[in-house]
Amino acid sequence: MAPDRPRRRVVWPLTSLVTAVLLLLFARFSAVDIFPLRLVSGPRTPISNAAAFETCSWKTLQSHTALLDVPPIARSDFIARQRVLASALRAARIDAFVAEPSASSTYYANISAAFHLSERPFLMIIDSDASFSYLVPQFEIGRINVESQHMVFDGDTEKAAIPWAEEENPYAVLAHRLSPRKRIMVDEHLRHMIAGGLEAVGIEVVPMSDEVRRLRTVKTESEIAILKGINGFTRQLVRALQGCLHVGLTQEDVVDTGRALFARAGVEEGFWAIALFGPWAAYPHGGKSGAVLRENEFVLIDIGSQLHGYGSDVTRTILPPGGVVSDELMEIWQTVRRAQTAGFEKMRPNETCRSADAASRIPVKEQGYGPYYTHRLGHGLGLEVHEHPYLNGANHERLAAGVVVTNEPGIYVTNEQAKELGKSEGFGVRLEDPILVTENGGVPLTGRRAESPWDP
Ligand SMILES: *[C@@H]1O[C@H](CO)[C@@H](O)[C@H](O)[C@H]1NC(C)=O
Ligand SMILES: *[C@@H]1O[C@H](CO)[C@@H](O)[C@H](O)[C@H]1NC(C)=O
Repeated sequence: MAPDRPRRRVVWPLTSLVTAVLLLLFARFSAVDIFPLRLVSGPRTPISNAAAFETCSWKTLQSHTALLDVPPIARSDFIARQRVLASALRAARIDAFVAEPSASSTYYANISAAFHLSERPFLMIIDSDASFSYLVPQFEIGRINVESQHMVFDGDTEKAAIPWAEEENPYAVLAHRLSPRKRIMVDEHLRHMIAGGLEAVGIEVVPMSDEVRRLRTVKTESEIAILKGINGFTRQLVRALQGCLHVGLTQEDVVDTGRALFARAGVEEGFWAIALFGPWAAYPHGGKSGAVLRENEFVLIDIGSQLHGYGSDVTRTILPPGGVVSDELMEIWQTVRRAQTAGFEKMRPNETCRSADAASRIPVKEQGYGPYYTHRLGHGLGLEVHEHPYLNGANHERLAAGVVVTNEPGIYVTNEQAKELGKSEGFGVRLEDPILVTENGGVPLTGRRAESPWDP
């Protein structure tokens, strides 16, 4: 799941404020229930429940914050990445690589992907001789230098800027500056509008090659250290939640507490989470707000955040301390665990993405749940929460040492399907760990995979 980027706050006109106050007063004193939410005072048990849940979880979690003490990517690493890209461009006889603010611009030049894209092009350009420049709307140079002050490159900012004025065609300005070089590789996330603009002024646009894509897919030591830190911490966070889970919490309490715990640890960026109780977990990406945890049902938590731009993505299907489910559900949990083991064993150099995906399906098919394992085995993880390589049945790409992929099989049966299968209620079970591929096999970046619903 990709997190939503925060937007700039809009100042409310005074009139809206007055209207809101009047509406609140109306809701407070009228007999008519105009809002679905309780706005007036009343019993607030769920809120104190959530507060106690947070306090309890933090008690266990706080001793693990040292996992987050990992340095960010160094300036020298960014410069090295630009040089490696340049040599890949030379090998492919490409003159320059162009990206908009995106994971690629973050990767090569520390230009944040959160930069708001507009119709006016702001482009990062890395030439085949490793020189860096950026195409920028002239009137925005000041803002871009402030907001992208962490842009990293060798050389001086003024020389690197290629400003275009409002009365100019930005692509013609770029073509002129690049002249006579004419073959440009564009990032996979670059908008079609930009590619079209470049082609219209006679630039040959080449799509991102597998070789260039692989530069970001294969992680370096410093990236692995960050991914280990944030994913290890995320698993500890889920463990802390498990130890304090109790009947009566809502799915939202679990999500809010997850957010609050990351914030307490100083991790404010990129948080997202899905918490699903019992049959609601049959919908892999969510379902029903306000579900309350009942006795003896599974809790599926899929959660992540970001450290120095790199994401975590961890799923556990757990039970509160002392909680139990039927033997049948426990067997399904074990089947998913076996599927994860089978996928894990294929996470080695030279195995294809599809063979890892296929291996993980065998234990699920053996139990008759083949059709209920509805999604791919996993995806790459790095600056993007979902990135190459994708572990699905159609991808023949080979894994390589240094690649980080999630290993996340699942079995999902909705209430309707449960009836057809002669079961009383639907369910969903998923287990997920990001795995570093090494010459000696997979290494879970969470530190360890789940052992049981009580030992996540
Ligand atoms: C990269 O940008 C971040 C802010 O997004 C900043 O904290 C960090 O210092 C920058 N890195 C370098 C090497 O300048
Ligand atoms: C992977 O395949 C390449 C080329 O086929 C080979 O050179 C290399 O030794 C293989 N690596 C492993 C770990 O099998």
